[in-house]
Formats: sequence, C-alpha cells, structure tokens
Amino acid sequence: MEQENKQLLRFITCGSVDDGKSTLIGRLLYESQLIFDDQLAELHATSKKFGTQGDDLDFALLVDGLAAEMEQGITIDVAYRFFSTDKRKFIVADTPGHEQYTRNMATGASTADLALLLIDARTGLLPQTFRHSYIVDMLGVKNICLIINKMDLVEYSQEIFEKIKNDYLEFSNGLNIENIIAIPVSALKGDNIIKASEYTKWYNGESLLQYLENIPLINEKPNNNFILPVQWVNRLSHDFRGFCGQVADGGISEGDPITIVPSNKKSKIKNILVSDKKSCFCSKGQSVTLELEDEIDISRGDIIFTEDFSCEVADQFQGKLLWMDDNRMVPGRPYTFKFGVSESNGSVSKLRHRININTFASEAASSLELNEIGIVNIALDKKIPMAPYTESKALGSFIVIDKISNNTVGMGLVNFALFRSDNIHWHKMDINKASRSNAKNQKPIVIWFTGISASGKSTIANILEKKLYSIGKHTMVLDGDNIRHGLNKDLGFTDVDRVENIRRIANVSKLMLEAGLITIVSFIAPFKAERRLARDLMGEEFLEVFIDVPLEVAEARDPKGLYKKARSGNLKNFTGIDSPYEIPDNPDIHINSDKISADVAADMIIKKLTQIKVI
Ligand code: ADX
Repeated sequence: MEQENKQLLRFITCGSVDDGKSTLIGRLLYESQLIFDDQLAELHATSKKFGTQGDDLDFALLVDGLAAEMEQGITIDVAYRFFSTDKRKFIVADTPGHEQYTRNMATGASTADLALLLIDARTGLLPQTFRHSYIVDMLGVKNICLIINKMDLVEYSQEIFEKIKNDYLEFSNGLNIENIIAIPVSALKGDNIIKASEYTKWYNGESLLQYLENIPLINEKPNNNFILPVQWVNRLSHDFRGFCGQVADGGISEGDPITIVPSNKKSKIKNILVSDKKSCFCSKGQSVTLELEDEIDISRGDIIFTEDFSCEVADQFQGKLLWMDDNRMVPGRPYTFKFGVSESNGSVSKLRHRININTFASEAASSLELNEIGIVNIALDKKIPMAPYTESKALGSFIVIDKISNNTVGMGLVNFALFRSDNIHWHKMDINKASRSNAKNQKPIVIWFTGISASGKSTIANILEKKLYSIGKHTMVLDGDNIRHGLNKDLGFTDVDRVENIRRIANVSKLMLEAGLITIVSFIAPFKAERRLARDLMGEEFLEVFIDVPLEVAEARDPKGLYKKARSGNLKNFTGIDSPYEIPDNPDIHINSDKISADVAADMIIKKLTQIKVI
C-alpha cells in the first residue's frame, strides 16, 4: 500500500553494448535490494495485448506514446524493470544493446522522465552518444544524467571526467534538455552508485541513487485531452447505444462536453461504464463504454474528444522521422503509418532534409539510412486525427511498418498538419471507367510485366498487343525504355529513382485503366514494394506477369550491350549485377522466357485473360 503513495520515476538507460549498461542496472537493483512488485511486471506482460482493464495508472503511463507498436504485437525488446527505495518507485526501460538498439531506445524514451546516458570514460563521446541524445530530446525527455563509467580504468581522473562533461555540455546547447548532470562512476566497482566513492573526492555531487531519488519531477500538466477511439458500437437494446474503446489519453467525467471527430458533432457524457460498472470518471488505459446525451451517429474508427481539444484531421503532415531498418527509407515507397489511434497507408512525399546529429545541421539527402533522422512530408491515403507531438503524444507519434515484411522500420513525430490537398477536390465526371470501357466493348486491365533487362518483356509485350489488337481490343503499352525518353527523362537508376519511376508508372497505368484500356506495362520494376503499390492501386484489375530468365541467359542475349558495360564497370547500378532484383513471390503468370517462345508466352497470357473473362 505504501508503495502506491510513493512518487514514480521512469527512466531509460542509453549506451552501447560495452558501456556497462547491464552492470549498472544490475548493481542498482542489487545494492538497493529492492526488486519488489512482481505484480507490476506481470501486469506489463498481459497488458501488452491491451487486454487489461488497466486501472493501474502506472502501467497506463508505460503504454504511452508508442502503444501502436505493442498493439501490433511485434517484438520490442524493452524489458521494464521495477524497483523501489524508501523514497521512490522506479521503472527502468532496459533496452538491450544490439544493433536494433535505437528502435528499442526510442520506444523506452517516449515515456521516460529521464535518461541515463552511459559513456565509457576511456572513449569519451561517440556518435551514438549524440544520436541517443537527439532521440531522447526529440521525444521530450527533460533530464539527462551522464554516467561517465569505467572511471576505475582511467585512474579516477577528474580531468578526463571534466573534459567529457564539458564536451557534452557544449554539444547539448543545441538541445532542449532542461537538466544535465554528470556523475563519475564505476558500475563494476560500485563507485558513486549508492554512496560517494572515496576515489573521487574531487566530486561533490550526488551518487546515482541519490540523484534518482531526489531529482524533482517536472510535473506534467494534468492531461485534460481526453481521447477515445471508438472500437465498436454496442446496441444492446433500441434505447441503448454505448461507444466502447480504450481511453488513449486523458480522462473524462459524467456530464462533460465532448466532440466527435471527424463529424465534429458535439454532445455530453451521459453515462460511463468501466468493466460494466457505472463510474463517474474514466481515464487513460481503461476500457470503457460511454453513453452520450444525444443520439449521434458514431461508428467504429471515430474518435471522442474533450470538447475543446483541438486536433487536426489531415492526410498530409510534416514530421521528424527516425529510420530503424537496414533497408533505407525511400520517398514514394508505400508504408503503413500507424498512430496510437488510427492508421493509414501512405508514403514520404518529400524528404526535406536529413539532420546531422552532431551539428544539428540540415543536410541534403535522397533517402534515410538506418538510424538516420530526417524532416519529411508524409502523404497518407486517408485523413486521420493528428496533433503536434508537443501537444499530444497519443496523436503526435507514429510508427512506420513495412508492408512486405510487416516489420517496424521507423518511428516519427508530427510537427504539424499540412492542408495543401484541402483545396484540391476530386471532380466526379459523368463519363466514368465503366462507360469508357463499355464504349470500347471490353473490360480494362493492367498487365504488369516485371523481369530483368533482356528477359524478353518488350518482345512479349509487342506480340501480346498485336494479338489483342487483331481481335479488336483497345490497348496501350507502357515500356520502360520508351517512357524514360519522356515523362521519366529526369530519372536514373538509383533505388530512389527506380521507386519514383514505378510510382509514376503505376499512377499512369491507373489513368489508362480509367480510360478503359487493356494496358501492358513493361518495366524491370525490381522492388516488391512498388509492384505491391501498383497492385493496390489497380485492385482486381491487375495481373502480375513475371518474365523469368536466368541472369546468364539474359547476359548472353545482351541486345543493347549493357551487361557487358556493367561487367566492365562502365555502367553502375545495373539490375542483376550491382543492383538487386526482388523475385515476385506469387505472380499471376510465371513465364520462363528461356524455355518458351515469345509467341507461346503471349498465348499463355491470352489464355489467362480468357479464363478471367477479360476477353
Ligand atoms: S526500372 O528498374 O526503373 O523498372 P526500367 O524498366 O524503367 O527500369 O528501365 C530499364 C531499361 O533501362 C533496361 O531495359 C535497360 O535497357 C536500360 N538501363 C540502362 N541502365 C540501366 C541500369 N543501370 N539497370 C537496369 N536497366 C538499365
């Protein structure tokens, strides 16, 4: 019971594998002999599935910000450890130090009051010290404690300690961190962990534990920004309509006024049910059912907000993006953007610049590599409620999921919503795809060829089009080499340019489809993600045709002499040589162009078109 009245401090440890992070945490836990609340630990485990009623506020705080990631059920290697002293309770997000580290660190940092930044006294500040500081800062952590560790290995040198500390203070001028202190420590020997070390008489500050117990917590403003994403509407009887979901942020009482997004309708809370029991108040983390005073149409996916809480509903925004995947982020590539309360497909429409984490300078970049941070514009496929991260962690943070691997590949924060698309409206035409296809007496479709250079795509496309033409079909061929002479003249063969090449062609194909044409698209289209984008755009009216040929055969054909050039080093980024081709997993038609003639291949496609009743 006593535990409950103590203040809770949440902190994270940042450092690299060899900095002594686990030794430090181990020593803290051991020396304070405190590991207490198994219950809390267990609560954490079950709550990962969002299944708890969550009346435990501590836990609710934990699943803050990046809750989406937990809901997704993907591994986050953040182990939360709980301990307490007479003065305080502590939760430390212990993030293992392997290469995926940054991602885990970011997950932990989104809820932390302070960050312990471990630095090896022998090496001083490292690039990751800057990176971790930047991330911690960007997530809004206000206190940093530099643990200058392994002091025993530098003879407890005050000079070394002061130098590291001053170097860091100079760097951190560019950050918003409010309090920075440094403690000379040996986690291994126990110096300055619990009590003052006799080897650092020159240090007058607190030991680590004293610091953790005494640092004033910046009181968060009481959070009135109530947010309830409606998960389902309970129509128990004709006069009962309950809106159910888990409170994502804030709290609300009976009688309070609310606004519903996106309809912007207003009402008041009539009844609150928490675990089927009537309650006059509910708060973050709880699964609730709300009844409203007025009969308003609300459906799953709508959000109930405190009346005066302002959030934007937008499909474009500017934000900060931290990339966490080995495969770099390429603008234009489709990803899923998952916010705490909603998600949408979308892409980075513009990488404005990359941030140099040592100098905070803005640098030009065309993609983001692992651990890089950029300022980006993001375009979503649909409008969702959002707010600047500084105003709402729940509405202002998101994770990025790769649509092919389903991995979390990035995390980001909203700076502000952009409304440029609001002034552009979709104009509905009276003559539509159906009318245009009917006039041509055909069903439109996109037949998407993919395969390496010299696989035979253009040859087969040519024969196929002639066959379709001969039976009176209206067709169009979009061919890589040809389109690169005009529309895509500005694009080369880097991954970034290829992604843009295919993004444009997918959209042009969509227009051809709207025109009612049978469209044959013949591009290398080396990446799964963009072929997927094309399929998603076209829906049912799409056939992926893999023109498959062994590299040796294509190389022997080499009609344009390009393989030869690539082998001799005179042509860079050539597909199959020094640029990848991702083989389709499940093409609708698989053609081995080294085994059958182009004519037979075209007939295979005709047969398929007949089967699916396109012709
Ligand atoms: S894609 O990868 O972006 O889909 P696209 O189909 O437009 O490529 O263009 C491929 C054609 O460009 C090839 O058939 C070849 O003739 C030519 N080409 C020139 N340089 C390269 C290169 N580095 N890699 C692949 N194809 C190249």
